[in-house]
Amino acid sequence: MPSTDHTERLQAPHDEPSSGSGPAANQPMSIPEIQASYAEYADWLHRFELVDRAVTGRYRRDRFGDVSGRVLDVACGTGTNFRYLPETVDLVGIDISPEMLANAEEQLAALERDGTLQRMDAQELAFPDDSFDAVISALSTCTFPDPVAALQEMERVCKPEGTIRLVEHGRSDVGPLARYQEWRAEAHYAKMGCRWTQEPTAVVADAGLSVRDTTSGLFGTITTFEIDPR
Ligand SMILES: C[S@@+](CC[C@H](N)C(=O)[O-])C[C@H]1O[C@@H](n2cnc3c(N)ncnc32)[C@H](O)[C@@H]1O
Repeated sequence: MPSTDHTERLQAPHDEPSSGSGPAANQPMSIPEIQASYAEYADWLHRFELVDRAVTGRYRRDRFGDVSGRVLDVACGTGTNFRYLPETVDLVGIDISPEMLANAEEQLAALERDGTLQRMDAQELAFPDDSFDAVISALSTCTFPDPVAALQEMERVCKPEGTIRLVEHGRSDVGPLARYQEWRAEAHYAKMGCRWTQEPTAVVADAGLSVRDTTSGLFGTITTFEIDPR
């Protein structure tokens, strides 16, 4: 059965984003603000999941479908990734939002899967070095106050022979779509705490991670990564 340990391990907000531009790049939401935003949208996001899966499912399946061993899903949200993981993995999910974790727990139960869920800040993971065979995360760096710190934490807790897999979203490479995103960027950030004009490739580079493979899709709005930890 799924187990949930809502470990209280909330950190002071990181006030110096290490990378990125555009909405709130110099004044990211604090952790309590992010929690308030996702408390409001958690149930809605859970209901919206069918649409999300129709759009992002193939990217999640392609990037996460072959991981094995002990797997950490960072900022697991409502657990959208869980169904794309092999049933044999030993799954641990963390997120900062109790409301998102409550939906993730329902997701585990609905999928009849085991897993452990913990409330934790991705920027300071409460796991020893080299704890996981695979670290996965989807649509998350856009919301972390300090995405570089979070990515470096993912590398720290992943075994050197393990793998880090990301499915991220960002600015389109199609002009009109990118311009629409720019136009709506501040409003979208204020509503969801999401920097949807971020450049995921630049964020991963800022974190100094070693990319083995990357793909792009959906008019450049989705970028996926396979990263070799060091
Ligand atoms: C857009 S949702 C993505 C959720 C899920 N990964 C998915 O693909 O559907 C972003 C998630 O990041 C979480 N989050 C934001 N900042 C966080 C932090 N510092 N530590 C852990 N989780 C965080 C939010 O609570 C939210 O669940």
